[in-house]
Amino acid sequence: MRSTFLLLATVIAGCSSARGADRQGQAVAETFKEPPVVASSAGVLRISLTPRMSTVTVAGRQATLMAYDGLYAPPTLRVRRGDTIRLRLTNALNEPTNFHAHGLTVSPRGNSDNIFLHVAPGQMQDYEIRLPANHPPGLYWYHPHPHGFSDEQTRNGMSGALIVDGLLDPFPTLRHLPERLLLLKDLQIRDGRVAITHIGENTIRTINGMVNPVIVLRPGETQLWRIGNVGGDLYYLLTLDGHRFQVVARDGNRRARLTTLDTLRLSPGARVEVLVTAGSPGVYLLRTGDIDTGPAGNKYKGAVMATVRVEGSPVSPVVLPPALLPVEDLRGKVTNRRTIVLSESNDGNTFFIGGKTFDMNRTDIRVKLGAIEEWTIRNEADELHTFHIHQGPYQLIEINGVAQPADDHRDIVDVPIKGEVKVIIPFTNPLIVGRFVFHCHILSHEDKGMMATIEVTP
Ligand code: C2O
Ligand code: CU
Ligand code: CU
Repeated sequence: MRSTFLLLATVIAGCSSARGADRQGQAVAETFKEPPVVASSAGVLRISLTPRMSTVTVAGRQATLMAYDGLYAPPTLRVRRGDTIRLRLTNALNEPTNFHAHGLTVSPRGNSDNIFLHVAPGQMQDYEIRLPANHPPGLYWYHPHPHGFSDEQTRNGMSGALIVDGLLDPFPTLRHLPERLLLLKDLQIRDGRVAITHIGENTIRTINGMVNPVIVLRPGETQLWRIGNVGGDLYYLLTLDGHRFQVVARDGNRRARLTTLDTLRLSPGARVEVLVTAGSPGVYLLRTGDIDTGPAGNKYKGAVMATVRVEGSPVSPVVLPPALLPVEDLRGKVTNRRTIVLSESNDGNTFFIGGKTFDMNRTDIRVKLGAIEEWTIRNEADELHTFHIHQGPYQLIEINGVAQPADDHRDIVDVPIKGEVKVIIPFTNPLIVGRFVFHCHILSHEDKGMMATIEVTP
């Protein structure tokens, strides 16, 4: 009873404080839903995706935008290690598109996870992406990657989850926990279209395409939340009133142990998989905090992302394992070092890696298979950049000279303003032989040049 009343009060307060229909509202309270799931069977996941201009309803408003099969929240692809994804991509847009499996350790060649492959308007392309039998289980995602169009298409909503099953399988007390997928995606609607900008008051932030959905847990219940930032450019700083998060995995890579955090930082492209244990009955808000990406960057106001209702009969708590499984520490195995410099023009319109803008025909870095490289990534700009490399994760060892614990691998890291990070990237899996890219995952920066090529040779 009390919780119902509280929820109602929240909803009403949200309404009366709403300034304009665009405003991120507590006003809309939808029941939590997840995107449809397409799962593999007998080792193969078959799916066809047709991006086209579609009129959808988001946040109670109509918008005509680029979407896969008319869905602002397109299907979650669910596979097991060792499976093959067979995708037919039919481009019904009037610009090029393609398909990237963000974070997967798979081949970058041919019709696998090859972002140099562009699918022209009206064309059809079959992809075949084979996951190795020892692929790390966890949350990955997919989005288009044609240089110059990645930001626009992702911001329109062309992004979805890709889950490799088995994250909690080794832990008997955790493996049957209920799980929820929370995909964070932002947009602005102007004149019925998605606006170019992602800053200002009118940004609508969604979870699985919904504004402020209601998530219900029982008192004491523990759930696995798989949270991914699958938007183009925004950062999220998530908190849940009265609760903390126990982090299981980051960017699809299980950690060596659970760590407890009050705030989850999700940079563009980042994922985090956490245990949430519900407290006493009541209503709690999942919020994202204010973010400032620097003098040359952007300021984002915080917002309510979801309403969590704890109600019903209590559940007895699960026993958490003291440790998860060991994670390989790559320090001491480094075979080569290099420095990567991120910078931008004074007008903020051109973005560089090593003083150059992206050229898909130029090979910027050559690496021999087997190398384990330490990269110092330096940010010379007056705003935050976020480093990502394709075909697998790396180990973060230092941020501005401060050593980092060796307990996880990841594929997204922020490079502080006028600062640097050190990462160790293993180029050891024979699957990744070929050419691929690394870039800033603020996709507007990537589209404006902050991307480079790398070739791994046998
Ligand atoms: Cu989400 Cu080039 O990646
Ligand atoms: Cu990627
Ligand atoms: Cu950037």
